[in-house]
Amino acid sequence: MDHDKTPVLEAIDQYRRGEYYTFALPGHRFGRGLDNRTAAVLSRSTFESDVIMAKQAVSEAEELMADAVGAKQAVFATCGSSISIHVAILTVTGPGRKILVDRNVHKSVVASLILAGVQPVWLRPSWDHERQIAHPAPAADVEAALERDRDIAAVLIITPTEYGTGADVRGVAEICHRRNLPLIVDEAWGAHFPFHPDVPTAAVQAGADLVVQSLHKADGGLCQASMILVGGDRVDTVDLRLRLDLITTTSPSALLYGSIDGFRRRMVLEGRQLLDEALSRVRDLRARVSKLPHLSVMDESINGHDGVAEWDPLKLSVDVSALGISGYQAKDWMQEKRRLTVQLGDARRVVCSLTYSDDDVSFARLGDAFEALATDPPKADRPEPRVPELERLNLEQAMPPRDAFFAETEQVADPAGRISAEMISPYPPGVPAVLPGERFTEEVAGYLRAGLAAGMKLPDASDPELKTFRVVRE
Ligand SMILES: Cc1ncc(COP(=O)(O)O)c(C=O)c1O
Repeated sequence: MDHDKTPVLEAIDQYRRGEYYTFALPGHRFGRGLDNRTAAVLSRSTFESDVIMAKQAVSEAEELMADAVGAKQAVFATCGSSISIHVAILTVTGPGRKILVDRNVHKSVVASLILAGVQPVWLRPSWDHERQIAHPAPAADVEAALERDRDIAAVLIITPTEYGTGADVRGVAEICHRRNLPLIVDEAWGAHFPFHPDVPTAAVQAGADLVVQSLHKADGGLCQASMILVGGDRVDTVDLRLRLDLITTTSPSALLYGSIDGFRRRMVLEGRQLLDEALSRVRDLRARVSKLPHLSVMDESINGHDGVAEWDPLKLSVDVSALGISGYQAKDWMQEKRRLTVQLGDARRVVCSLTYSDDDVSFARLGDAFEALATDPPKADRPEPRVPELERLNLEQAMPPRDAFFAETEQVADPAGRISAEMISPYPPGVPAVLPGERFTEEVAGYLRAGLAAGMKLPDASDPELKTFRVVRE
Protein backbone atom coordinates (compact mmCIF):
# COMPACT_ATOMS: atom_id res chain seq x y z
CA MET A 1 0.00 0.00 0.00
CA ASP A 2 1.11 3.56 -0.55
CA HIS A 3 1.95 4.79 2.95
CA ASP A 4 2.85 8.21 1.67
CA LYS A 5 -0.90 8.79 1.39
CA THR A 6 -2.81 10.37 4.27
CA PRO A 7 -6.49 10.28 3.25
CA VAL A 8 -7.78 12.25 6.25
CA LEU A 9 -5.14 14.96 6.10
CA GLU A 10 -5.67 15.23 2.34
CA ALA A 11 -9.44 15.53 2.80
CA ILE A 12 -8.98 18.30 5.36
CA ASP A 13 -6.56 20.08 3.07
CA GLN A 14 -8.82 19.78 0.02
CA TYR A 15 -11.77 21.09 1.97
CA ARG A 16 -9.77 24.03 3.20
CA ARG A 17 -8.64 24.88 -0.31
CA GLY A 18 -12.09 24.43 -1.89
CA GLU A 19 -14.68 27.17 -2.16
CA TYR A 20 -16.88 25.54 0.43
CA TYR A 21 -19.10 27.15 2.99
CA THR A 22 -21.23 25.32 5.52
CA PHE A 23 -24.62 25.92 7.10
CA ALA A 24 -24.18 22.72 9.06
CA LEU A 25 -21.96 22.01 12.01
CA PRO A 26 -19.41 23.01 13.19
CA GLY A 27 -20.87 26.41 13.96
CA HIS A 28 -17.53 28.14 14.31
CA ARG A 29 -17.35 28.18 10.47
CA PHE A 30 -13.69 27.22 10.07
CA GLY A 31 -12.78 29.60 12.85
CA ARG A 32 -14.41 32.69 11.28
CA GLY A 33 -16.60 33.13 14.31
CA LEU A 34 -13.66 32.90 16.66
CA ASP A 35 -12.62 35.89 18.73
CA ASN A 36 -9.00 36.96 18.49
CA ARG A 37 -8.23 36.24 22.12
CA THR A 38 -9.29 32.59 21.74
CA ALA A 39 -7.48 32.33 18.40
CA ALA A 40 -4.32 33.70 20.02
CA VAL A 41 -4.22 30.65 22.27
CA LEU A 42 -5.75 27.87 20.19
CA SER A 43 -4.73 29.15 16.73
CA ARG A 44 -7.29 29.82 14.01
CA SER A 45 -5.89 27.04 11.84
CA THR A 46 -6.97 24.48 14.42
CA PHE A 47 -10.56 25.52 13.77
CA GLU A 48 -10.00 25.67 10.00
CA SER A 49 -9.07 21.98 10.12
CA ASP A 50 -12.10 21.03 12.20
CA VAL A 51 -14.16 19.99 9.18
CA ILE A 52 -16.76 17.29 9.40
CA MET A 53 -16.28 16.07 5.80
CA ALA A 54 -12.95 14.43 6.66
CA LYS A 55 -14.92 11.57 8.28
CA GLN A 56 -15.48 10.05 4.83
CA ALA A 57 -11.75 9.51 4.39
CA VAL A 58 -11.38 7.54 7.60
CA SER A 59 -11.99 4.04 6.25
CA GLU A 60 -9.15 4.36 3.76
CA ALA A 61 -6.89 5.69 6.53
CA GLU A 62 -7.90 2.73 8.71
CA GLU A 63 -6.96 0.29 5.94
CA LEU A 64 -3.55 1.89 5.67
CA MET A 65 -3.12 1.68 9.45
CA ALA A 66 -4.10 -2.00 9.52
CA ASP A 67 -1.50 -2.69 6.85
CA ALA A 68 1.14 -0.68 8.71
CA VAL A 69 0.75 -2.48 12.03
CA GLY A 70 -0.08 -5.99 10.76
CA ALA A 71 -3.72 -5.99 11.89
CA LYS A 72 -6.69 -7.51 10.13
CA GLN A 73 -8.56 -4.27 10.69
CA ALA A 74 -8.01 -0.94 12.41
CA VAL A 75 -10.81 1.20 13.82
CA PHE A 76 -10.07 4.81 14.76
CA ALA A 77 -11.76 6.28 17.80
CA THR A 78 -11.88 9.82 19.11
CA CYS A 79 -13.00 9.41 22.72
CA GLY A 80 -9.76 8.12 24.18
CA SER A 81 -8.80 4.56 24.93
CA SER A 82 -11.24 4.64 27.84
CA ILE A 83 -14.14 4.41 25.38
CA SER A 84 -12.22 2.04 23.07
CA ILE A 85 -11.88 -0.32 26.02
CA HIS A 86 -15.64 -0.20 26.60
CA VAL A 87 -16.11 -1.04 22.91
CA ALA A 88 -13.68 -3.96 23.03
CA ILE A 89 -15.26 -5.45 26.14
CA LEU A 90 -18.80 -4.98 24.82
CA THR A 91 -17.82 -6.65 21.55
CA VAL A 92 -16.77 -9.96 23.06
CA THR A 93 -18.82 -10.10 26.27
CA GLY A 94 -22.15 -8.80 27.51
CA PRO A 95 -24.38 -8.62 30.59
CA GLY A 96 -23.87 -11.52 32.97
CA ARG A 97 -20.96 -13.00 31.01
CA LYS A 98 -17.59 -13.57 32.61
CA ILE A 99 -14.26 -12.08 31.66
CA LEU A 100 -10.86 -12.91 33.09
CA VAL A 101 -9.22 -9.57 33.87
CA ASP A 102 -5.83 -8.58 35.19
CA ARG A 103 -6.61 -6.74 38.46
CA ASN A 104 -3.88 -4.25 37.60
CA VAL A 105 -6.14 -2.64 35.01
CA HIS A 106 -6.92 0.96 34.20
CA LYS A 107 -10.14 2.29 35.73
CA SER A 108 -11.87 2.38 32.32
CA VAL A 109 -11.94 -1.43 32.36
CA VAL A 110 -13.77 -1.37 35.68
CA ALA A 111 -16.15 1.25 34.30
CA SER A 112 -16.94 -1.12 31.40
CA LEU A 113 -17.69 -3.95 33.80
CA ILE A 114 -20.08 -1.69 35.72
CA LEU A 115 -21.83 -0.30 32.66
CA ALA A 116 -22.15 -3.61 30.82
CA GLY A 117 -22.83 -5.80 33.86
CA VAL A 118 -19.96 -8.09 32.90
CA GLN A 119 -18.66 -10.31 35.71
CA PRO A 120 -14.94 -10.07 36.38
CA VAL A 121 -12.83 -13.04 37.34
CA TRP A 122 -9.68 -11.39 38.64
CA LEU A 123 -6.17 -12.37 37.75
CA ARG A 124 -3.93 -11.23 40.56
CA PRO A 125 -1.03 -9.13 39.30
CA SER A 126 2.50 -10.32 39.71
CA TRP A 127 3.78 -8.30 42.70
CA ASP A 128 7.38 -7.15 42.54
CA HIS A 129 8.30 -6.94 46.22
CA GLU A 130 11.68 -5.42 45.57
CA ARG A 131 10.26 -2.46 43.65
CA GLN A 132 6.79 -2.44 45.22
CA ILE A 133 4.96 -2.40 41.91
CA ALA A 134 2.76 -4.80 39.96
CA HIS A 135 3.71 -6.44 36.68
CA PRO A 136 1.30 -8.16 34.28
CA ALA A 137 0.17 -11.62 35.36
CA PRO A 138 2.18 -14.48 33.81
CA ALA A 139 0.69 -16.77 31.15
CA ALA A 140 0.65 -19.72 33.57
CA ASP A 141 -1.74 -17.79 35.85
CA VAL A 142 -4.05 -17.17 32.89
CA GLU A 143 -4.01 -20.88 32.10
CA ALA A 144 -4.75 -21.84 35.72
CA ALA A 145 -7.62 -19.35 35.97
CA LEU A 146 -9.18 -20.62 32.75
CA GLU A 147 -8.86 -24.19 34.02
CA ARG A 148 -10.65 -23.25 37.25
CA ASP A 149 -13.56 -21.49 35.59
CA ARG A 150 -14.91 -22.88 32.31
CA ASP A 151 -17.55 -20.12 31.98
CA ILE A 152 -15.06 -17.39 31.18
CA ALA A 153 -15.93 -15.88 27.79
CA ALA A 154 -12.93 -13.62 27.17
CA VAL A 155 -9.61 -12.50 28.65
CA LEU A 156 -8.28 -8.95 29.09
CA ILE A 157 -4.73 -8.08 30.00
CA ILE A 158 -2.89 -4.80 30.23
CA THR A 159 0.56 -4.57 28.75
CA PRO A 160 2.78 -2.73 29.15
CA THR A 161 2.12 -1.19 32.55
CA GLU A 162 2.90 2.46 33.12
CA TYR A 163 6.30 1.31 34.32
CA GLY A 164 6.91 -0.23 30.89
CA THR A 165 6.83 -3.89 31.93
CA GLY A 166 5.11 -6.20 29.51
CA ALA A 167 3.24 -9.50 29.47
CA ASP A 168 3.92 -12.60 27.43
CA VAL A 169 1.15 -11.77 24.97
CA ARG A 170 2.04 -14.61 22.62
CA GLY A 171 1.86 -17.16 25.44
CA VAL A 172 -1.42 -15.77 26.76
CA ALA A 173 -2.92 -15.66 23.25
CA GLU A 174 -2.05 -19.32 22.65
CA ILE A 175 -3.70 -20.31 25.91
CA CYS A 176 -6.84 -18.34 25.04
CA HIS A 177 -7.01 -19.62 21.48
CA ARG A 178 -6.72 -23.27 22.53
CA ARG A 179 -10.07 -22.63 24.20
CA ASN A 180 -11.29 -20.43 21.36
CA LEU A 181 -11.50 -17.43 23.69
CA PRO A 182 -10.78 -13.91 22.44
CA LEU A 183 -7.94 -11.98 24.03
CA ILE A 184 -8.24 -8.21 24.52
CA VAL A 185 -5.02 -6.34 25.16
CA ASP A 186 -4.99 -2.86 26.63
CA GLU A 187 -1.84 -1.66 24.91
CA ALA A 188 -2.61 2.01 25.51
CA TRP A 189 1.12 2.67 25.96
CA GLY A 190 2.32 0.72 22.94
CA ALA A 191 1.34 2.45 19.69
CA HIS A 192 5.02 2.64 18.71
CA PHE A 193 5.60 -1.10 19.20
CA PRO A 194 4.89 -2.21 15.60
CA PHE A 195 7.59 0.08 14.28
CA HIS A 196 10.79 -1.10 15.97
CA PRO A 197 12.21 -4.51 16.97
CA ASP A 198 13.81 -3.27 20.22
CA VAL A 199 10.56 -2.36 21.95
CA PRO A 200 8.03 -4.99 23.08
CA THR A 201 6.28 -7.08 20.43
CA ALA A 202 3.10 -5.42 19.21
CA ALA A 203 0.19 -7.32 20.75
CA VAL A 204 -1.68 -7.54 17.46
CA GLN A 205 1.31 -9.33 15.95
CA ALA A 206 1.62 -11.61 18.97
CA GLY A 207 -1.86 -13.05 18.54
CA ALA A 208 -4.18 -10.66 20.43
CA ASP A 209 -7.70 -10.50 19.02
CA LEU A 210 -8.51 -6.92 20.01
CA VAL A 211 -5.93 -4.33 20.92
CA VAL A 212 -6.57 -0.84 22.24
CA GLN A 213 -3.94 1.86 21.79
CA SER A 214 -3.79 5.52 22.75
CA LEU A 215 -2.09 7.52 20.05
CA HIS A 216 -1.28 10.43 22.34
CA LYS A 217 0.64 8.46 24.94
CA ALA A 218 4.08 7.80 23.55
CA ASP A 219 3.42 8.97 20.05
CA GLY A 220 2.19 11.59 17.61
CA GLY A 221 -1.57 11.65 18.13
CA LEU A 222 -3.63 14.38 19.72
CA CYS A 223 -5.14 13.69 23.14
CA GLN A 224 -8.16 11.36 22.87
CA ALA A 225 -6.93 9.81 19.60
CA SER A 226 -7.23 6.07 20.04
CA MET A 227 -7.63 2.97 17.94
CA ILE A 228 -8.88 -0.58 18.19
CA LEU A 229 -6.95 -3.17 16.21
CA VAL A 230 -8.48 -6.48 15.21
CA GLY A 231 -5.99 -9.33 15.16
CA GLY A 232 -7.84 -12.43 14.05
CA ASP A 233 -11.14 -14.04 13.13
CA ARG A 234 -12.53 -14.54 16.63
CA VAL A 235 -14.05 -11.06 16.67
CA ASP A 236 -17.21 -10.17 14.79
CA THR A 237 -16.17 -6.89 13.20
CA VAL A 238 -19.77 -5.89 12.54
CA ASP A 239 -20.45 -6.23 16.26
CA LEU A 240 -17.38 -4.08 16.87
CA ARG A 241 -18.74 -1.27 14.68
CA LEU A 242 -22.18 -1.53 16.29
CA ARG A 243 -20.73 -1.37 19.83
CA LEU A 244 -18.56 1.59 18.89
CA ASP A 245 -21.57 3.32 17.35
CA LEU A 246 -23.50 2.72 20.56
CA ILE A 247 -21.20 4.72 22.78
CA THR A 248 -19.03 7.01 20.69
CA THR A 249 -19.62 10.62 19.76
CA THR A 250 -21.62 11.42 16.62
CA SER A 251 -19.34 14.41 15.98
CA PRO A 252 -15.85 12.94 15.85
CA SER A 253 -12.97 15.35 15.48
CA ALA A 254 -11.20 15.50 12.13
CA LEU A 255 -8.19 16.79 14.04
CA LEU A 256 -7.92 13.55 15.97
CA TYR A 257 -8.39 11.39 12.90
CA GLY A 258 -5.86 13.51 11.01
CA SER A 259 -3.29 13.13 13.77
CA ILE A 260 -3.62 9.33 13.65
CA ASP A 261 -3.28 9.37 9.88
CA GLY A 262 -0.14 11.52 9.99
CA PHE A 263 1.35 9.39 12.76
CA ARG A 264 0.99 6.24 10.63
CA ARG A 265 2.66 7.85 7.61
CA ARG A 266 5.53 9.11 9.76
CA MET A 267 6.02 5.77 11.47
CA VAL A 268 5.96 3.72 8.27
CA LEU A 269 8.29 6.06 6.42
CA GLU A 270 10.61 7.14 9.24
CA GLY A 271 9.64 5.23 12.39
CA ARG A 272 12.55 2.83 12.39
CA GLN A 273 15.06 5.65 12.20
CA LEU A 274 13.22 7.93 14.63
CA LEU A 275 12.96 5.16 17.19
CA ASP A 276 16.57 4.10 16.59
CA GLU A 277 17.66 7.61 17.47
CA ALA A 278 15.28 7.85 20.42
CA LEU A 279 16.49 4.51 21.82
CA SER A 280 20.10 5.56 21.48
CA ARG A 281 19.46 8.87 23.28
CA VAL A 282 17.54 7.02 25.99
CA ARG A 283 20.45 4.61 26.45
CA ASP A 284 22.78 7.55 27.05
CA LEU A 285 20.36 9.25 29.43
CA ARG A 286 19.78 6.03 31.37
CA ALA A 287 23.54 5.50 31.67
CA ARG A 288 23.96 9.07 32.93
CA VAL A 289 21.16 8.88 35.51
CA SER A 290 22.26 5.39 36.65
CA LYS A 291 25.62 6.82 37.71
CA LEU A 292 24.05 9.44 39.96
CA PRO A 293 24.22 8.79 43.70
CA HIS A 294 21.19 7.26 45.45
CA LEU A 295 19.13 6.89 42.28
CA SER A 296 18.13 3.48 41.01
CA VAL A 297 17.06 3.23 37.39
CA MET A 298 15.00 0.40 35.93
CA ASP A 299 16.80 -1.24 33.02
CA GLU A 300 16.66 -4.35 30.84
CA SER A 301 17.54 -6.56 33.83
CA ILE A 302 13.84 -6.28 34.73
CA ASN A 303 13.15 -8.81 31.93
CA GLY A 304 12.31 -12.15 33.46
CA HIS A 305 11.62 -10.70 36.93
CA ASP A 306 8.28 -11.67 38.42
CA GLY A 307 6.88 -12.70 35.06
CA VAL A 308 8.02 -9.64 33.09
CA ALA A 309 8.29 -10.91 29.52
CA GLU A 310 9.23 -7.67 27.79
CA TRP A 311 10.15 -4.14 28.73
CA ASP A 312 9.87 -0.78 27.00
CA PRO A 313 13.14 1.17 27.34
CA LEU A 314 11.26 4.39 26.52
CA LYS A 315 9.92 4.38 30.07
CA LEU A 316 12.51 5.90 32.39
CA SER A 317 11.65 4.75 35.90
CA VAL A 318 13.88 6.24 38.57
CA ASP A 319 13.65 5.19 42.22
CA VAL A 320 14.40 8.21 44.42
CA SER A 321 13.60 6.68 47.82
CA ALA A 322 17.28 6.51 48.85
CA LEU A 323 17.29 10.32 48.74
CA GLY A 324 14.87 10.25 51.68
CA ILE A 325 11.97 11.61 49.61
CA SER A 326 9.01 10.00 47.88
CA GLY A 327 8.33 9.92 44.16
CA TYR A 328 5.37 12.25 44.82
CA GLN A 329 7.75 14.87 46.19
CA ALA A 330 10.29 14.30 43.43
CA LYS A 331 7.57 14.78 40.81
CA ASP A 332 6.51 18.06 42.42
CA TRP A 333 10.15 19.13 42.73
CA MET A 334 10.71 18.49 39.01
CA GLN A 335 7.65 20.59 38.21
CA GLU A 336 8.34 23.48 40.59
CA LYS A 337 12.10 23.74 40.44
CA ARG A 338 12.80 22.57 36.90
CA ARG A 339 9.48 23.09 35.07
CA LEU A 340 9.62 19.48 33.96
CA THR A 341 6.45 17.41 34.01
CA VAL A 342 7.04 13.73 34.54
CA GLN A 343 4.43 11.08 33.78
CA LEU A 344 4.13 9.59 37.22
CA GLY A 345 5.27 9.93 40.79
CA ASP A 346 4.56 7.13 43.24
CA ALA A 347 5.69 6.18 46.72
CA ARG A 348 9.25 5.54 45.57
CA ARG A 349 9.91 6.71 42.05
CA VAL A 350 9.20 8.98 39.14
CA VAL A 351 8.52 7.67 35.67
CA CYS A 352 9.21 9.70 32.54
CA SER A 353 7.53 8.72 29.33
CA LEU A 354 10.09 9.32 26.57
CA THR A 355 9.39 9.61 22.87
CA TYR A 356 11.12 10.27 19.56
CA SER A 357 10.09 13.91 19.98
CA ASP A 358 12.52 14.38 22.87
CA ASP A 359 15.75 15.76 21.46
CA ASP A 360 19.24 16.07 22.91
CA VAL A 361 18.37 19.40 24.52
CA SER A 362 15.32 17.99 26.34
CA PHE A 363 17.29 14.95 27.47
CA ALA A 364 20.15 17.12 28.71
CA ARG A 365 17.60 19.13 30.70
CA LEU A 366 16.15 15.97 32.22
CA GLY A 367 19.60 14.55 33.00
CA ASP A 368 20.62 17.86 34.62
CA ALA A 369 17.46 17.85 36.71
CA PHE A 370 18.13 14.32 38.02
CA GLU A 371 21.71 15.32 38.73
CA ALA A 372 20.59 18.36 40.74
CA LEU A 373 18.02 16.24 42.58
CA ALA A 374 20.56 13.55 43.43
CA THR A 375 23.37 15.86 44.50
CA ASP A 376 21.29 18.36 46.43
CA PRO A 377 18.02 16.65 47.31
CA PRO A 378 15.29 18.59 49.07
CA LYS A 379 14.36 17.70 52.65
CA ALA A 380 11.28 15.53 52.97
CA ASP A 381 8.40 18.02 53.18
CA ARG A 382 5.49 15.66 53.82
CA PRO A 383 4.60 12.48 55.69
CA GLU A 384 6.05 9.26 54.30
CA PRO A 385 3.75 7.08 52.18
CA ARG A 386 2.84 3.77 53.76
CA VAL A 387 2.82 0.80 51.37
CA PRO A 388 1.49 -2.33 53.08
CA GLU A 389 2.71 -5.83 52.33
CA LEU A 390 1.66 -6.04 48.68
CA GLU A 391 -0.51 -9.15 48.98
CA ARG A 392 -2.63 -7.16 51.46
CA LEU A 393 -3.68 -4.98 48.52
CA ASN A 394 -5.51 -7.97 47.00
CA LEU A 395 -9.09 -7.40 48.14
CA GLU A 396 -12.00 -9.83 48.28
CA GLN A 397 -14.62 -9.21 45.57
CA ALA A 398 -17.69 -9.54 47.78
CA MET A 399 -20.27 -8.31 45.25
CA PRO A 400 -20.31 -7.75 41.46
CA PRO A 401 -18.98 -4.25 40.65
CA ARG A 402 -22.22 -3.16 39.00
CA ASP A 403 -24.42 -4.26 41.92
CA ALA A 404 -22.21 -2.46 44.40
CA PHE A 405 -21.97 0.71 42.32
CA PHE A 406 -25.76 1.00 41.95
CA ALA A 407 -26.61 -0.21 45.48
CA GLU A 408 -27.88 2.04 48.25
CA THR A 409 -24.81 3.64 49.71
CA GLU A 410 -23.55 5.59 52.70
CA GLN A 411 -20.38 7.49 53.55
CA VAL A 412 -18.48 6.04 56.50
CA ALA A 413 -15.31 7.12 58.27
CA ASP A 414 -14.17 3.57 59.03
CA PRO A 415 -14.70 1.42 55.92
CA ALA A 416 -12.82 -1.70 57.07
CA GLY A 417 -14.95 -4.79 56.47
CA ARG A 418 -17.49 -2.84 54.38
CA ILE A 419 -18.16 -3.30 50.66
CA SER A 420 -16.95 -0.39 48.56
CA ALA A 421 -19.45 1.35 46.29
CA GLU A 422 -16.78 3.50 44.67
CA MET A 423 -13.58 3.27 42.73
CA ILE A 424 -10.50 4.96 44.21
CA SER A 425 -7.65 5.13 41.76
CA PRO A 426 -4.26 6.68 42.46
CA TYR A 427 -3.63 8.68 39.27
CA PRO A 428 -1.50 8.10 37.33
CA PRO A 429 -1.51 5.19 36.64
CA GLY A 430 -5.28 5.12 37.26
CA VAL A 431 -5.35 1.54 38.53
CA PRO A 432 -8.05 1.38 41.22
CA ALA A 433 -6.75 0.50 44.69
CA VAL A 434 -10.31 -0.39 45.54
CA LEU A 435 -13.28 -0.84 43.26
CA PRO A 436 -17.02 -1.30 43.69
CA GLY A 437 -17.85 -4.65 45.28
CA GLU A 438 -14.45 -5.12 46.94
CA ARG A 439 -14.31 -5.34 50.71
CA PHE A 440 -12.27 -2.58 52.31
CA THR A 441 -9.53 -3.55 54.73
CA GLU A 442 -7.82 -1.35 57.28
CA GLU A 443 -4.58 -1.67 55.31
CA VAL A 444 -6.08 -0.34 52.09
CA ALA A 445 -7.87 2.57 53.79
CA GLY A 446 -4.63 3.37 55.67
CA TYR A 447 -2.57 3.07 52.49
CA LEU A 448 -4.85 5.52 50.66
CA ARG A 449 -5.01 8.01 53.54
CA ALA A 450 -1.22 7.93 54.04
CA GLY A 451 -0.78 8.20 50.26
CA LEU A 452 -3.03 11.25 50.09
CA ALA A 453 -1.04 12.95 52.86
CA ALA A 454 2.15 12.11 50.94
CA GLY A 455 0.90 13.58 47.65
CA MET A 456 -0.96 10.71 45.94
CA LYS A 457 -3.63 12.05 43.55
CA LEU A 458 -7.03 10.41 43.92
CA PRO A 459 -9.31 12.24 41.47
CA ASP A 460 -12.19 9.75 41.56
CA ALA A 461 -12.69 9.34 45.33
CA SER A 462 -16.21 10.28 46.48
CA ASP A 463 -14.66 12.30 49.31
CA PRO A 464 -11.48 13.90 47.96
CA GLU A 465 -10.15 14.29 51.52
CA LEU A 466 -10.81 10.59 52.34
CA LYS A 467 -12.46 11.54 55.61
CA THR A 468 -15.18 9.13 54.52
CA PHE A 469 -15.55 6.33 52.00
CA ARG A 470 -18.66 5.36 49.99
CA VAL A 471 -19.81 1.88 50.93
CA VAL A 472 -22.85 -0.30 50.28
CA ARG A 473 -25.49 0.29 52.95
CA GLU A 474 -26.05 -2.93 54.88
C1 LIG B 1 -3.23 1.38 30.54
C2 LIG B 1 -4.23 2.42 30.19
N1 LIG B 1 -5.34 2.03 29.55
C3 LIG B 1 -6.27 2.92 29.19
C4 LIG B 1 -6.14 4.25 29.45
C5 LIG B 1 -7.20 5.22 29.03
O1 LIG B 1 -6.72 5.99 27.98
P1 LIG B 1 -7.32 7.38 27.57
O2 LIG B 1 -6.74 8.38 28.53
O3 LIG B 1 -6.84 7.56 26.17
O4 LIG B 1 -8.79 7.33 27.68
C6 LIG B 1 -4.99 4.69 30.13
C7 LIG B 1 -4.82 6.11 30.46
O5 LIG B 1 -3.93 6.54 31.13
C8 LIG B 1 -4.01 3.74 30.51
O6 LIG B 1 -2.89 4.11 31.16
